[in-house]
Amino acid sequence: MRILVTGGAGFIGSAVCHRLLDGGRHQVISLDRLGYAANPLTVAGLNARHGHLLERADIADSQAVAAIFARHRPDRVIHLAAESHVDRSIDAPGGFIETNIVGTFTLLEAARRYWQGLDGSERNSFRLVHVSTDEVFGSLGVEGRFNEDSRYAPNSPYAASKAAADHLARAWHATYGLPVVVTNCSNNYGPRQFPEKLIPLLILNAVAGRRLPIYGDGLQVRDWLFVEDHADALVEVALRAAPGAGYMIGGDCQRTNLDMVRAICAELDRLLPGSPHRPHAGLIAHVADRPGHDRRYATDSSRIGRELGWRPRVTLEDGLARTVRWYLDNDPWCAACGDVAARRQGLGTDGNG
Ligand SMILES: NC(=O)c1ccc[n+]([C@@H]2O[C@H](COP(=O)([O-])OP(=O)(O)OC[C@H]3O[C@@H](n4cnc5c(N)ncnc54)[C@H](O)[C@@H]3O)[C@@H](O)[C@H]2O)c1
Repeated sequence: MRILVTGGAGFIGSAVCHRLLDGGRHQVISLDRLGYAANPLTVAGLNARHGHLLERADIADSQAVAAIFARHRPDRVIHLAAESHVDRSIDAPGGFIETNIVGTFTLLEAARRYWQGLDGSERNSFRLVHVSTDEVFGSLGVEGRFNEDSRYAPNSPYAASKAAADHLARAWHATYGLPVVVTNCSNNYGPRQFPEKLIPLLILNAVAGRRLPIYGDGLQVRDWLFVEDHADALVEVALRAAPGAGYMIGGDCQRTNLDMVRAICAELDRLLPGSPHRPHAGLIAHVADRPGHDRRYATDSSRIGRELGWRPRVTLEDGLARTVRWYLDNDPWCAACGDVAARRQGLGTDGNG
C-alpha cells in the first residue's frame, strides 16, 4: 500500500513510519514541513530505509498538498502533522490555529478532491486517519475515564485547536462521505520526542544536574502510552477501521507527574552509578502551576481492543527504561535539538500534545 503520513518527521509520526516500513510491504511518504520538532537525524533515519520518501511541505499549502496527492496516489493517509506543545500554545496560539485547524481543513479538502476522483475499489478502500489527543475532553475528577462518547471541553489553546480539527474531520465524513477515522490518544513517551516535552526534558535536565521543576504539587494524573504501542494502534486503524469510526487509545497506565519524575530519577540512579547528581530525585523542585492545568486524564480504550484486537504491550517500567537508555545513547540527536531543556521553567505533562 502507499501510505501518506503527515508529520512523519515528528515524534509519533516517525514511529508510525518505521512501523509501516518494518514489514517491507508498504511505500511510505512523509509529508512534513520540517519545523523545529523534526530532528534532522530522525529524518536521516527514515531516509535510510527502503520504501520511504520525504515530501517537505506545509499542510496549510493547498497547492503543495494537492500535488503530493496527485504524485503519490495514496491508499491511506495518517494525519499527525500538528503544533503539539501546550506551553507554546499558551505563549503564541496563532501557529496552532494555522496548522492544526487551517492545515487540517486544507488536508481534508485535498483528500476529498483526490478521493472523489478515485474509482470503484480504490474509492471504497481509501481511509484518512485523523490523529488527536484525549486533551480535547478537558479534565476529569477523581473518578472515570474518557471514552468515545465523552463531551468535548478543551481547556488550552492547543486542545481547542485539536478539538476544532476533530470536528472538521468528523464533518468531512458526515457531509461528504470522506472515509475518515478519528483517534484520541493519551500521553505518549519514548525515543525521538523533542526535549521540550516532559519525559525527555526530565532525562536531559537530570543528567546535566539541572533542577527538575514540577508544576504545582505534581499530583496531576496522566495516562501514559509507549509511542510504539500508539504506532501499532494507528497502523491497525489505518488498515482495518471502518469509515466514520472513532477510537480512544491509551496505556491504561495512570501515574502522577511526581511518580513519573521519581521513576526516571531511579532509572538514572541505576544507569549512572558514578553520576555526581545521584540521587537524581534531589533535583526535584516545585514551581507555580500553569494556568488552566488539567488535573486528571484517563482513557478507556476497550473499543479498539474489542473491535481491532489492539492493546498496549509495553509496560511503563520497560518503556521508561528503554526511553531513558535511548536518550543516554543518542547525544548527537539531543544536541541537534539545541538547548531547549535549559530554557524551560516548569514541567507539566500536557506539553506532551
Ligand atoms: N505526543 C503525544 O503525547 C500525543 C498524544 C496524543 C495525540 N498526539 C497528536 O499526535 C500528533 C503528533 O504529535 P507528536 O508528539 O509526534 O508531535 P511533534 O511535534 O513531535 O511532531 C509534529 C510534526 O509535524 C510537523 N508539522 C508541524 N506543522 C506542520 C505543518 N504545518 N505542515 C507540515 N508538517 C508540520 C512537524 O515538523 C513535526 O515533524 C499530533 O497531531 C498530536 O496532536 C500527540
